[in-house]
Amino acid sequence: MSRRARFLEVLGIADEWVLRRAPALPEAVEPSAIAALADPSAEDPAVNDDAASREAAQAAVTLAAVADAGADEAQPEAQAEAVPRAWSAQADMEAGVPAMAEAAVARMPLEPAVAVAVADTGTREAVIARLDWAALAQRVSGCTDCQLCDGRTQTVFGVGDRQAEWMLVGEAPGENEDLQGEPFVGQAGKLLDNMLAAVGLARGRNVFIANVLKCRPPGNRNPEPEEVAQCEPYLRRQIALIQPKLIVVLGRFAAQSLLRTTTPIGKLRGTVHSYEGIPVVVTYHPAYLLRTLSDKARAWEDLCLAREVHARAGAKA
Ligand code: URA
Repeated sequence: MSRRARFLEVLGIADEWVLRRAPALPEAVEPSAIAALADPSAEDPAVNDDAASREAAQAAVTLAAVADAGADEAQPEAQAEAVPRAWSAQADMEAGVPAMAEAAVARMPLEPAVAVAVADTGTREAVIARLDWAALAQRVSGCTDCQLCDGRTQTVFGVGDRQAEWMLVGEAPGENEDLQGEPFVGQAGKLLDNMLAAVGLARGRNVFIANVLKCRPPGNRNPEPEEVAQCEPYLRRQIALIQPKLIVVLGRFAAQSLLRTTTPIGKLRGTVHSYEGIPVVVTYHPAYLLRTLSDKARAWEDLCLAREVHARAGAKA
């Protein structure tokens, strides 16, 4: 068995998360990747730029429209060459990324939980907070509480294991999701599946995937605050029913919505946050990663941190 295969076996990682056209794996990780992990506050201005985020989401939709597996080939050559060298479980393991993730967990500056006091048991939010799975799914599918119901094909409730220990939260359905009724089914979804596989997970196996919004914003525009406010109780109830050991938030919008902050994603990464007492790890949105291949190494660091947090949460249970 090769050294690489032994590493993957020890890590319990079934598949490597490697781009089809990624360059050959190096023996050592680039120092910059380590520096980025050591200093999670390091920001890429593009990451924090709203327009860039939306552009990334738009690009994902465009890529998703490319038939079958052709989308990878649709990536410009220059981007394909920008794939970071530290791009495999082996390279990261050798570079000590898990150890550094452990240090980040040890710091665990848990932010104050988002306090949601439901004082009035008759409010819409309080009603939703008492629904069981079937009633919640039914309520979401018939929801007309904001303008997004006008343009949707169907609601996208979420998918996966309702007893999952991992919960992933994205922004909102795109065109494909609106048509198929399932989150992350486009090209960004394929990347997300690869990310899950890299940490030994699979859609529907110990993972539940949901979005902040259950309806597609027309033209994939930014969600309006009112739309987020109306949809938030649904996600909160999903989280309460699942009681995951860990929430991984995908992208700036979802992170800022869930954590009720305006802090840029570059600063939210690398720290363990908390939502209703559940640890939250923030990483980039897969649609953004499709465009910004150089940040995949950082996303891998985030997944290492998430895996570490999950292991610790599991050990307590
Ligand atoms: N982007 C998201 O944030 N969620 C989806 O379901 C699809 C794309």
